Amino acid sequence: MKLESLPRYKLATLPTPLDELPRLSRDLGVRVLMKRDDLTGFALGGNKARKLEFLVADALAQNADMLVTGGGPQSNHARMTAAAARKIGMDCQIVFFGAPPPEVNGNLLLDELLGAQMMYANTDDKIETDRILVRVTDELRAQGRQPYLIPVGGSTALGCAAYILAVGELLGQLNAQRVTPDYVFITTGSCGTHAGILAGMKFYNAAIPVYGITVSRIKSECDQRIPALVQKTSELLTHHLPLTTNDVIVNDAYIGPGYAKITPDARAAIHLVAGLEGIFLDPVYTGKTMAGLIDLIKRGEITRGSTIVFWHTGGAPGIFGHSKDVLG
Ligand SMILES: Cc1ncc(COP(=O)(O)O)c(C=O)c1O
Repeated sequence: MKLESLPRYKLATLPTPLDELPRLSRDLGVRVLMKRDDLTGFALGGNKARKLEFLVADALAQNADMLVTGGGPQSNHARMTAAAARKIGMDCQIVFFGAPPPEVNGNLLLDELLGAQMMYANTDDKIETDRILVRVTDELRAQGRQPYLIPVGGSTALGCAAYILAVGELLGQLNAQRVTPDYVFITTGSCGTHAGILAGMKFYNAAIPVYGITVSRIKSECDQRIPALVQKTSELLTHHLPLTTNDVIVNDAYIGPGYAKITPDARAAIHLVAGLEGIFLDPVYTGKTMAGLIDLIKRGEITRGSTIVFWHTGGAPGIFGHSKDVLG
């Protein structure tokens, strides 16, 4: 199906701004522009609003009556899926990795407000959680419900298609501002946003390298998932998206002790960006990505004087879910 013909349900406020960050740029010695997908607006914003526009439209087309998804207890994706379900008059079932946390705060508090049905997989194993998600969906179907399963992170071909359009939006802004970036920096989680942006670069024949800092999966896993998602997107759109292995740049040096576990450098990056620009990064995703960018500049792997688009994918509610980590 053609990109323009894909069913879409409006959730996000678009286009998001592409902001020049002069004080951070001066501090880091590179020119930083920020693509503000933290400002997509819907349900406190973030990258998932774009993906959900296509996923929700598909759920409606399939006559679903509820959305089912999974993630960590502070998952931004789960919060936004729960909100999207409410917006279209559906219920939402969330399966969280791990065990119930001691406190209900941050995204989890918002999930409660949205009346999401929540359960815990009692394992941190993502593959096992995926299996539980499928089992829960089957059980709901057996009970007479019409569940629509959104995989963790909404990382499907439809989710990627949303980010192809986001790249079109970015390229228009870069053109208008006469900026040619050396890199787009992105947080890589379940890989759909990264894959979608790469697919977008191919779709629009743009040659801007996309540099992903992974915050959960190790590099070898991302190196497989990203091309597979681009391939599925290419099939969905019947549009050739000629990816080479050199196009997939993923760095897993900044995960630290693990997913959703803050690092001192991520904490410092969050404080730096808040202090210089009044912009909130989050402890799970964008804080680690900024920490990665800062370190790569220090090491000379990103040369001073470069122009970087930092794609801010949201996640600020996670600050309230990890407040002690953020304060240090
Ligand atoms: C704030 C934020 N940034 C980045 C990501 C990563 O996006 P993806 O899962 O598409 O790789 C997520 C995923 O949940 C997120 O919540």
